[in-house]
Amino acid sequence: MSGPRAAEPPPGTPLVLIGAGGFARETAQAVRDTRAADRAAGRAPRWRLLGHLDDNRALHGREVDGVPVLGGSDRLPDLPEARVLVCVGNPRDYAGRARLVRRLGLPEQRYATLVHPTAVVSDSSSVGAGSVLLAHCVLTAAVRVGAHVALMPHVVLTHDDEVADFATVASGVRVGGGSRIGRGAYLGSGALVREHSAVGAWSQIGMGAVVLGDVPPGEVWVGSPARRLRAAGPEALRELAGAGGIDRAVGADGTDRADGTDEGIAAGSGPATRMGSPVI
Ligand SMILES: CC(C)(COP(=O)(O)OP(=O)(O)OC[C@H]1O[C@@H](n2cnc3c(N)ncnc32)[C@H](O)[C@@H]1OP(=O)(O)O)[C@@H](O)C(=O)NCCC(=O)NCCS
Repeated sequence: MSGPRAAEPPPGTPLVLIGAGGFARETAQAVRDTRAADRAAGRAPRWRLLGHLDDNRALHGREVDGVPVLGGSDRLPDLPEARVLVCVGNPRDYAGRARLVRRLGLPEQRYATLVHPTAVVSDSSSVGAGSVLLAHCVLTAAVRVGAHVALMPHVVLTHDDEVADFATVASGVRVGGGSRIGRGAYLGSGALVREHSAVGAWSQIGMGAVVLGDVPPGEVWVGSPARRLRAAGPEALRELAGAGGIDRAVGADGTDRADGTDEGIAAGSGPATRMGSPVI
Protein backbone atom coordinates (compact mmCIF):
# COMPACT_ATOMS: atom_id res chain seq x y z
CA MET A 1 0.00 0.00 0.00
CA SER A 2 1.10 3.56 -0.54
CA GLY A 3 -0.34 6.68 1.00
CA PRO A 4 -1.31 7.47 4.58
CA ARG A 5 -2.66 4.80 6.88
CA ALA A 6 -5.61 5.96 8.96
CA ALA A 7 -4.84 5.79 12.70
CA GLU A 8 -1.85 3.44 12.42
CA PRO A 9 -2.29 0.98 15.33
CA PRO A 10 0.60 -0.01 17.60
CA PRO A 11 2.07 -3.49 17.01
CA GLY A 12 -0.12 -6.35 18.19
CA THR A 13 -3.33 -4.35 18.46
CA PRO A 14 -6.16 -6.82 19.14
CA LEU A 15 -8.95 -6.90 16.57
CA VAL A 16 -12.36 -8.58 16.45
CA LEU A 17 -14.59 -9.01 13.44
CA ILE A 18 -18.35 -8.76 13.85
CA GLY A 19 -19.87 -11.46 11.65
CA ALA A 20 -18.42 -14.74 10.43
CA GLY A 21 -19.79 -14.90 6.90
CA GLY A 22 -18.19 -14.34 3.54
CA PHE A 23 -17.08 -10.74 3.91
CA ALA A 24 -15.84 -11.35 7.47
CA ARG A 25 -13.80 -14.34 6.30
CA GLU A 26 -12.32 -12.26 3.49
CA THR A 27 -11.46 -9.57 6.00
CA ALA A 28 -9.79 -12.17 8.25
CA GLN A 29 -7.66 -13.20 5.29
CA ALA A 30 -6.76 -9.56 4.69
CA VAL A 31 -5.61 -9.35 8.32
CA ARG A 32 -3.40 -12.42 7.79
CA ASP A 33 -1.99 -10.83 4.63
CA THR A 34 -1.31 -7.60 6.53
CA ARG A 35 0.57 -9.52 9.21
CA ALA A 36 2.62 -11.34 6.58
CA ALA A 37 3.44 -8.05 4.85
CA ASP A 38 4.49 -6.47 8.15
CA ARG A 39 6.81 -9.38 8.89
CA ALA A 40 8.24 -9.26 5.36
CA ALA A 41 8.95 -5.57 5.90
CA GLY A 42 10.84 -6.41 9.09
CA ARG A 43 8.34 -4.92 11.54
CA ALA A 44 6.05 -6.40 14.16
CA PRO A 45 2.53 -7.13 12.85
CA ARG A 46 0.08 -4.35 13.63
CA TRP A 47 -3.02 -6.51 14.09
CA ARG A 48 -3.65 -9.52 16.31
CA LEU A 49 -6.93 -11.11 15.24
CA LEU A 50 -8.77 -12.43 18.30
CA GLY A 51 -11.64 -13.92 16.32
CA HIS A 52 -15.18 -13.42 15.08
CA LEU A 53 -18.28 -12.46 17.05
CA ASP A 54 -21.45 -13.81 15.47
CA ASP A 55 -24.92 -14.04 16.96
CA ASN A 56 -25.53 -17.48 15.48
CA ARG A 57 -25.06 -19.67 18.53
CA ALA A 58 -24.37 -22.72 16.35
CA LEU A 59 -21.01 -21.18 15.47
CA HIS A 60 -19.90 -20.37 18.99
CA GLY A 61 -16.79 -22.24 20.03
CA ARG A 62 -16.12 -23.30 16.45
CA GLU A 63 -13.62 -22.01 13.90
CA VAL A 64 -14.15 -20.56 10.43
CA ASP A 65 -11.08 -20.82 8.24
CA GLY A 66 -9.05 -21.46 11.38
CA VAL A 67 -10.31 -18.34 13.16
CA PRO A 68 -12.36 -18.87 16.35
CA VAL A 69 -15.93 -17.65 16.76
CA LEU A 70 -15.72 -16.31 20.29
CA GLY A 71 -19.44 -15.79 20.84
CA GLY A 72 -22.12 -13.30 19.98
CA SER A 73 -21.78 -9.56 19.61
CA ASP A 74 -22.82 -9.29 23.27
CA ARG A 75 -19.27 -10.47 24.12
CA LEU A 76 -17.87 -7.14 22.95
CA PRO A 77 -17.86 -5.55 26.45
CA ASP A 78 -15.52 -8.41 27.51
CA LEU A 79 -12.99 -7.21 24.92
CA PRO A 80 -12.55 -3.52 25.76
CA GLU A 81 -9.04 -3.33 24.28
CA ALA A 82 -10.03 -4.78 20.93
CA ARG A 83 -10.57 -2.68 17.86
CA VAL A 84 -13.60 -3.65 15.84
CA LEU A 85 -14.69 -4.11 12.23
CA VAL A 86 -18.32 -4.77 11.36
CA CYS A 87 -18.03 -7.23 8.50
CA VAL A 88 -21.48 -7.97 7.16
CA GLY A 89 -22.37 -7.34 3.55
CA ASN A 90 -25.26 -8.85 1.67
CA PRO A 91 -26.55 -7.67 -1.71
CA ARG A 92 -30.11 -8.63 -0.71
CA ASP A 93 -30.00 -6.50 2.46
CA TYR A 94 -27.12 -4.08 2.30
CA ALA A 95 -28.33 -1.98 5.23
CA GLY A 96 -27.24 -4.57 7.79
CA ARG A 97 -23.85 -2.98 8.48
CA ALA A 98 -25.48 0.33 9.34
CA ARG A 99 -27.96 -1.33 11.68
CA LEU A 100 -25.22 -3.22 13.49
CA VAL A 101 -23.01 -0.18 13.92
CA ARG A 102 -25.96 1.70 15.35
CA ARG A 103 -26.81 -1.16 17.69
CA LEU A 104 -23.23 -1.54 18.96
CA GLY A 105 -23.06 2.18 19.75
CA LEU A 106 -19.24 2.22 19.91
CA PRO A 107 -17.20 5.43 19.73
CA GLU A 108 -15.48 5.99 16.40
CA GLN A 109 -12.02 5.34 17.86
CA ARG A 110 -12.94 1.73 18.68
CA TYR A 111 -13.13 0.97 14.98
CA ALA A 112 -10.16 -0.22 12.96
CA THR A 113 -9.47 0.73 9.36
CA LEU A 114 -8.10 -2.20 7.40
CA VAL A 115 -6.28 -1.74 4.11
CA HIS A 116 -4.95 -4.82 2.34
CA PRO A 117 -1.19 -4.56 1.72
CA THR A 118 -1.71 -4.77 -2.04
CA ALA A 119 -4.17 -1.86 -2.07
CA VAL A 120 -2.87 1.46 -3.34
CA VAL A 121 -4.16 4.48 -1.44
CA SER A 122 -2.75 7.77 -2.72
CA ASP A 123 -1.36 10.27 -0.22
CA SER A 124 -4.16 12.66 -1.09
CA SER A 125 -6.91 10.15 -0.34
CA SER A 126 -8.55 9.25 2.97
CA VAL A 127 -10.35 6.24 4.40
CA GLY A 128 -12.70 6.42 7.39
CA ALA A 129 -13.05 4.36 10.57
CA GLY A 130 -14.50 0.89 10.24
CA SER A 131 -13.79 0.67 6.51
CA VAL A 132 -12.15 -2.30 4.79
CA LEU A 133 -10.23 -2.26 1.51
CA LEU A 134 -9.61 -5.75 0.16
CA ALA A 135 -6.83 -6.79 -2.21
CA HIS A 136 -5.78 -4.61 -5.13
CA CYS A 137 -8.14 -1.71 -4.53
CA VAL A 138 -6.82 1.55 -5.97
CA LEU A 139 -7.68 5.09 -4.82
CA THR A 140 -5.91 7.21 -7.40
CA ALA A 141 -6.00 10.83 -6.17
CA ALA A 142 -8.01 12.87 -3.66
CA VAL A 143 -10.54 10.09 -3.08
CA ARG A 144 -12.59 10.29 0.10
CA VAL A 145 -13.93 7.03 1.52
CA GLY A 146 -16.21 7.37 4.53
CA ALA A 147 -16.79 5.18 7.58
CA HIS A 148 -17.83 1.51 7.50
CA VAL A 149 -17.37 1.30 3.76
CA ALA A 150 -16.61 -2.10 2.20
CA LEU A 151 -14.42 -2.08 -0.91
CA MET A 152 -14.10 -5.58 -2.38
CA PRO A 153 -11.08 -6.70 -4.44
CA HIS A 154 -10.04 -4.72 -7.51
CA VAL A 155 -12.23 -1.68 -6.91
CA VAL A 156 -10.81 1.39 -8.67
CA LEU A 157 -11.88 4.80 -7.40
CA THR A 158 -10.44 7.68 -9.37
CA HIS A 159 -9.66 11.33 -8.74
CA ASP A 160 -12.00 13.27 -6.49
CA ASP A 161 -14.47 10.43 -5.96
CA GLU A 162 -16.43 10.46 -2.72
CA VAL A 163 -17.86 7.31 -1.15
CA ALA A 164 -20.17 7.95 1.78
CA ASP A 165 -20.52 5.95 5.00
CA PHE A 166 -21.84 2.36 4.83
CA ALA A 167 -21.48 2.06 1.05
CA THR A 168 -20.58 -1.36 -0.35
CA VAL A 169 -18.58 -1.58 -3.56
CA ALA A 170 -18.33 -5.10 -4.95
CA SER A 171 -15.36 -6.55 -6.78
CA GLY A 172 -14.14 -4.99 -9.99
CA VAL A 173 -16.18 -1.79 -9.83
CA ARG A 174 -14.62 1.25 -11.54
CA VAL A 175 -15.79 4.75 -10.77
CA GLY A 176 -14.90 7.68 -13.00
CA GLY A 177 -13.48 10.88 -11.54
CA GLY A 178 -15.51 13.36 -9.54
CA SER A 179 -18.31 10.91 -8.79
CA ARG A 180 -20.27 10.62 -5.57
CA ILE A 181 -21.45 7.30 -4.16
CA GLY A 182 -24.16 7.98 -1.60
CA ARG A 183 -24.52 6.77 1.95
CA GLY A 184 -25.20 3.06 2.09
CA ALA A 185 -25.27 2.61 -1.68
CA TYR A 186 -24.40 -0.83 -3.11
CA LEU A 187 -22.49 -1.10 -6.38
CA GLY A 188 -22.69 -4.64 -7.77
CA SER A 189 -19.70 -6.53 -9.15
CA GLY A 190 -18.12 -5.09 -12.24
CA ALA A 191 -20.31 -1.99 -12.43
CA LEU A 192 -18.92 1.06 -14.20
CA VAL A 193 -19.80 4.61 -13.22
CA ARG A 194 -19.21 7.47 -15.63
CA GLU A 195 -17.22 10.45 -14.39
CA HIS A 196 -19.09 13.18 -12.46
CA SER A 197 -22.04 10.90 -11.75
CA ALA A 198 -23.89 10.53 -8.46
CA VAL A 199 -25.37 7.32 -7.10
CA GLY A 200 -28.00 8.25 -4.53
CA ALA A 201 -28.04 7.09 -0.93
CA TRP A 202 -29.18 3.49 -0.35
CA SER A 203 -29.51 2.82 -4.06
CA GLN A 204 -28.25 -0.39 -5.62
CA ILE A 205 -26.51 -0.84 -8.94
CA GLY A 206 -26.70 -4.29 -10.53
CA MET A 207 -23.74 -6.43 -11.54
CA GLY A 208 -22.14 -5.24 -14.73
CA ALA A 209 -24.22 -2.08 -15.02
CA VAL A 210 -22.95 0.95 -16.91
CA VAL A 211 -24.08 4.06 -15.06
CA LEU A 212 -24.03 7.06 -17.40
CA GLY A 213 -25.56 9.72 -15.15
CA ASP A 214 -27.16 10.33 -11.79
CA VAL A 215 -29.10 7.60 -10.00
CA PRO A 216 -31.67 8.90 -7.49
CA PRO A 217 -31.64 7.68 -3.87
CA GLY A 218 -33.42 4.47 -2.92
CA GLU A 219 -33.62 2.81 -6.33
CA VAL A 220 -32.21 -0.30 -8.06
CA TRP A 221 -30.69 0.27 -11.51
CA VAL A 222 -29.37 -2.39 -13.91
CA GLY A 223 -28.04 -2.83 -17.42
CA SER A 224 -26.05 -0.93 -20.01
CA PRO A 225 -26.92 1.84 -20.09
CA ALA A 226 -28.25 1.50 -16.55
CA ARG A 227 -31.98 2.00 -16.10
CA ARG A 228 -34.32 1.87 -13.12
CA LEU A 229 -35.44 -1.68 -12.27
CA ARG A 230 -37.43 -1.06 -9.10
CA ALA A 231 -37.39 0.70 -5.76
CA ALA A 232 -34.75 -0.42 -3.28
CA GLY A 233 -35.71 -3.04 -0.70
CA PRO A 234 -37.50 -2.15 2.53
CA GLU A 235 -34.37 -2.18 4.70
CA ALA A 236 -32.61 0.29 2.43
CA LEU A 237 -35.70 2.49 2.21
CA ARG A 238 -35.99 2.55 5.99
CA GLU A 239 -32.41 3.80 6.22
CA LEU A 240 -33.11 6.36 3.52
CA ALA A 241 -36.10 7.59 5.50
CA GLY A 242 -33.76 8.07 8.45
CA ALA A 243 -35.64 5.62 10.61
CA GLY A 244 -33.02 2.90 10.54
CA GLY A 245 -35.56 0.18 11.23
CA ILE A 246 -35.28 -2.44 13.92
CA ASP A 247 -31.83 -3.79 14.63
CA ARG A 248 -31.35 -7.52 14.36
CA ALA A 249 -28.68 -10.08 15.15
CA VAL A 250 -25.71 -11.26 13.11
CA GLY A 251 -26.33 -14.62 11.47
CA ALA A 252 -24.07 -17.47 10.46
CA ASP A 253 -23.80 -16.32 6.89
CA GLY A 254 -22.48 -12.98 8.00
CA THR A 255 -25.77 -11.31 7.29
CA ASP A 256 -27.74 -9.89 10.14
CA ARG A 257 -31.09 -11.42 10.84
CA ALA A 258 -33.65 -11.95 13.56
CA ASP A 259 -32.76 -15.19 15.29
CA GLY A 260 -34.15 -14.65 18.73
CA THR A 261 -30.78 -13.76 20.22
CA ASP A 262 -31.22 -10.04 19.93
CA GLU A 263 -33.79 -7.91 21.61
CA GLY A 264 -33.71 -5.29 18.88
CA ILE A 265 -33.40 -1.57 19.32
CA ALA A 266 -36.06 0.83 18.21
CA ALA A 267 -35.50 3.02 15.21
CA GLY A 268 -33.25 5.99 15.72
CA SER A 269 -32.36 5.15 19.31
CA GLY A 270 -28.66 4.58 18.64
CA PRO A 271 -25.94 7.18 18.34
CA ALA A 272 -25.42 9.12 15.18
CA THR A 273 -23.04 7.29 12.86
CA ARG A 274 -22.36 10.03 10.34
CA MET A 275 -18.65 10.56 10.74
CA GLY A 276 -18.00 13.58 8.67
CA SER A 277 -17.85 11.80 5.38
CA PRO A 278 -19.84 12.91 2.36
CA VAL A 279 -23.54 12.14 2.25
CA ILE A 280 -25.75 12.60 -0.78
C1 LIG B 1 -29.75 -5.89 -9.51
C2 LIG B 1 -30.15 -6.99 -8.56
C3 LIG B 1 -30.10 -6.48 -7.11
C4 LIG B 1 -31.57 -7.38 -8.92
O1 LIG B 1 -31.98 -8.42 -8.10
P1 LIG B 1 -33.55 -8.86 -8.14
O2 LIG B 1 -34.41 -7.71 -7.76
O3 LIG B 1 -33.63 -10.11 -7.32
O4 LIG B 1 -33.80 -9.10 -9.66
P2 LIG B 1 -34.23 -10.44 -10.43
O5 LIG B 1 -33.15 -11.45 -10.40
O6 LIG B 1 -35.60 -10.84 -9.96
O7 LIG B 1 -34.34 -9.88 -11.91
C5 LIG B 1 -35.31 -8.91 -12.27
C6 LIG B 1 -35.02 -8.48 -13.68
O8 LIG B 1 -33.82 -7.73 -13.71
C7 LIG B 1 -32.85 -8.35 -14.56
N1 LIG B 1 -31.55 -8.22 -13.89
C8 LIG B 1 -31.23 -8.58 -12.64
N2 LIG B 1 -29.95 -8.26 -12.37
C9 LIG B 1 -29.48 -7.70 -13.49
C10 LIG B 1 -28.21 -7.18 -13.81
N3 LIG B 1 -27.21 -7.15 -12.92
N4 LIG B 1 -28.05 -6.66 -15.04
C11 LIG B 1 -29.07 -6.67 -15.96
N5 LIG B 1 -30.29 -7.15 -15.67
C12 LIG B 1 -30.48 -7.67 -14.45
C13 LIG B 1 -33.29 -9.81 -14.67
O9 LIG B 1 -32.85 -10.39 -15.86
C14 LIG B 1 -34.80 -9.65 -14.63
O10 LIG B 1 -35.24 -9.22 -15.90
P3 LIG B 1 -36.68 -9.68 -16.49
O11 LIG B 1 -37.70 -9.16 -15.53
O12 LIG B 1 -36.73 -9.05 -17.83
O13 LIG B 1 -36.64 -11.17 -16.50
C15 LIG B 1 -29.18 -8.23 -8.65
O14 LIG B 1 -29.42 -9.00 -9.82
C16 LIG B 1 -27.72 -7.81 -8.65
O15 LIG B 1 -27.11 -7.50 -9.65
N6 LIG B 1 -27.15 -7.84 -7.40
C17 LIG B 1 -25.75 -7.52 -7.17
C18 LIG B 1 -25.00 -8.81 -6.84
C19 LIG B 1 -23.54 -8.60 -6.64
O16 LIG B 1 -22.91 -7.69 -7.14
N7 LIG B 1 -22.97 -9.47 -5.83
C20 LIG B 1 -21.58 -9.35 -5.45
C21 LIG B 1 -21.38 -10.14 -4.21
S1 LIG B 1 -19.78 -9.85 -3.55
